[in-house]
Amino acid sequence: MANTLLILPGDGIGPEVMAEVRKVIDWFGKKRGLVFDVSEDLVGGAAYDAHGTPLTDATMARAQEVDAVLLGAVGGPKWDSLPFEVKPERGLLRLRKEMDLYANLRPARCFDALADFSSLKREVVAGLDIMIVRELTGGVYFGEPRGIFREGNERVGINTQRYTESEIARVARSAFELARRRQNRVCSMEKANVMESGVLWREVVQQVHDAEYPDVELSDMYADAGAMQLTRWPKQFDVIVTDNLFGDLLSDLAAMLTGSLGMLPSASLGAPMGNGRPKALYEPVHGSAPDIAGQGRANPIACILSFGMALRYSFDQGTEADRLETAIEKVLASGARTADLMGPEGGTPLSTAQMGDAILKALDETL
Ligand code: IPM
Ligand code: MG
Repeated sequence: MANTLLILPGDGIGPEVMAEVRKVIDWFGKKRGLVFDVSEDLVGGAAYDAHGTPLTDATMARAQEVDAVLLGAVGGPKWDSLPFEVKPERGLLRLRKEMDLYANLRPARCFDALADFSSLKREVVAGLDIMIVRELTGGVYFGEPRGIFREGNERVGINTQRYTESEIARVARSAFELARRRQNRVCSMEKANVMESGVLWREVVQQVHDAEYPDVELSDMYADAGAMQLTRWPKQFDVIVTDNLFGDLLSDLAAMLTGSLGMLPSASLGAPMGNGRPKALYEPVHGSAPDIAGQGRANPIACILSFGMALRYSFDQGTEADRLETAIEKVLASGARTADLMGPEGGTPLSTAQMGDAILKALDETL
């Protein structure tokens, strides 16, 4: 079966980090016989500049066909004043919604070599390995009614938090399945004390648990308390499952615990396709970092690890994904650092391309 991959580098540092991913993809082709049929296209501001839309229908159609989409980053000040419907972010949201990528996996893993970069004490974060499963296609991001309306002599801005039982149940299943392959613990977060959608969320997660996953340890927390517990003692968690908006906030929080946003990958998964593989989009958690774009200073690791997640979740190559993660750990342990990972003591950082090369060398050493 040919492995098809659509690469959407996007804006800002997207293209430069993706260039390093291409090297890693080629490495797996040459050295491990894992050949990918790669195509590349535009998304975000780059697509807007070329076509007047952040995602063309042709790109959307291609994304629906491939085994996996790998995206760099979208957005930047250049496009900030565009109308809402054509902002770069809409391209990404369209991909998520039309591919129905309802389960967003955001691991927050603290690499030992980087534990001192966290704003929290080393002992709080060293060895941290949690997985946030964020519902990605529902909730307040997409609920209707939405808009800015006139009400008497002023305007009112409206968004709607909305979840059906089946939307909650399917993302809960994703979380329980993942937990079984980890430490077998799920903590569900909502605001059942304030929101009806939270009451339903808690009920449905509990039902799915009791009926299908009684072996997994389930707890729940109000999302605000969850944020507090995440900063107090994050290692108490294994898998956290939560809605779209809370997941957006909590995953940024969890990301920062690990010391660098430049390190964190993500996977957005949907229902299985005809070939049994889930619809899938992989992207780094970081943004397009327009302030450093084009300077060769960006850290390519998050994007490379996102390809690692593709190996694991789309291509059933868990062992090769482990190989990639181990190579990256070794590179970091050797003291190699991009600019975002430089401490106050300074030193000369590696460029984006040098970090990519160091990872290729470490991959060679795994053979
Ligand atoms: C994220 C981002 C996006 C979101 C933006 C870019 C639309 O913050 O992936 O977390 O809010 O989901
Ligand atoms: Mg976010």
